[in-house]
Amino acid sequence: MSTIKLNLENSGVYEKDILKYSQKVFDIHNKMNENADNNEEFLGWVNLPTKYDKKEFEKIRQAAQKIRKDSDVLVVIGIGGSYLGARAVIESLTHTFFNMIPVEKRKAPKILYAGNNLSPKYINDLIEAIGDLDLSINVISKSGTTTEPAIAFRIFREILENKYGIQEARKRIYVTTDKSKGALKKLSKEEEYETFVIPDNIGGRYSVLTPVGLLPIAVAGIDIDKLMYGARLAQEKYNDDNLKYNDCYKYAVARNVLYERNKLIEILVNYEPKMHYFTEWWKQLFGESEGKEEKGIFPAGVDFTTDLHSMGQYIQQGRRDIFETVISINKYNSDITIKTDGDNLDGLNYLAGRKLSYVNEKAMEGTVEAHVSGLCPNIILEMEDLSEESIGHLIYFFEKACAVSGQILGINPFNQPGVEEYKKNMFRLLEKPGYTE
Ligand code: PA5
Repeated sequence: MSTIKLNLENSGVYEKDILKYSQKVFDIHNKMNENADNNEEFLGWVNLPTKYDKKEFEKIRQAAQKIRKDSDVLVVIGIGGSYLGARAVIESLTHTFFNMIPVEKRKAPKILYAGNNLSPKYINDLIEAIGDLDLSINVISKSGTTTEPAIAFRIFREILENKYGIQEARKRIYVTTDKSKGALKKLSKEEEYETFVIPDNIGGRYSVLTPVGLLPIAVAGIDIDKLMYGARLAQEKYNDDNLKYNDCYKYAVARNVLYERNKLIEILVNYEPKMHYFTEWWKQLFGESEGKEEKGIFPAGVDFTTDLHSMGQYIQQGRRDIFETVISINKYNSDITIKTDGDNLDGLNYLAGRKLSYVNEKAMEGTVEAHVSGLCPNIILEMEDLSEESIGHLIYFFEKACAVSGQILGINPFNQPGVEEYKKNMFRLLEKPGYTE
């Protein structure tokens, strides 16, 4: 069972503060449900776990199988919403050192990423690291025109064509893009690449449970049925229009209550390094959705206990405009017992017989207590385990919370007009036709 328990005990936000938003949330809920299937509204993710395209899903499974058979490496080319979701899920659910362990144990190609930056060093090193290994590419871009993935695709397409010849290269290129628009769609048609469709009414940062995320996730050997099942349970659970009984909506409201109390920064905290990219995905989801019209909570992230030795000082005693949302995982499927040492020169015998997960848990409890007493409110989200179901559930929980939170704030959580500003300048400086004025 994949559930999430919301604990507001350390947040300073009480039931009475939350319930003041009942009518507002009720209205947002109804409007979202009414428009969930409207193609103009970017709400396709709302019913996605029950209404996904089963044929496309089967196609994903088959392509993943082929890639798993004929490739040592899958290069996933994409940026922002066309990259972070897949990486978040893959890193949360696979071996911490996935790409380093022997293939017999990994039972999947290495998953490497490109097109998410413009560093020549990164691309050259990636090419060197791949060397002679057999590879396939999944290029993902909804618009089909984003510069970073477009450049990376041009480079890797050439590598594939030189290595395998044009015909075989075509069979190793998988394109995930719009059903009809964009340069990538046009190119795929001409070259007859296998393509996957990003539904019109699902924006990049809400698209992890579409082919955008699912193809690379399936190639990594993750059970995409279970992932969707977890999301489906969340879809049912968080469809209650009564705020009192809907933890997803309560989280959305609690954030806004804290924001009104001048808590302007939310830090997502994890105690599991495998969740690092999940936090990156969450930062993009909330940052790009809410940061508009000079409003919005600034989403940040830390990996504890690592960052207790860097950001911990600031969180404890710096400006008091921060709150934390802590992801706590109840059950680990891996543990270590600390042994007794005869000499005890390191003074650790007081922990002998304890599990490392227990020490991690106490670190979390101690930190929550310290930060709360330092006037940094803490929201705690308890997850049962790190499984496909739980991650699917958490993805849906945050997507819906983000949509509701943004609407409470009074902005449109589904557009990203600000992202265009840097692009216009960059294109002018690069003398792209049409941008020279
Ligand atoms: O969430 C979003 O919409 C963005 O982050 C996009 O995913 C990102 O800009 C990449 O766009 P595209 O998929 O069109 O290449």
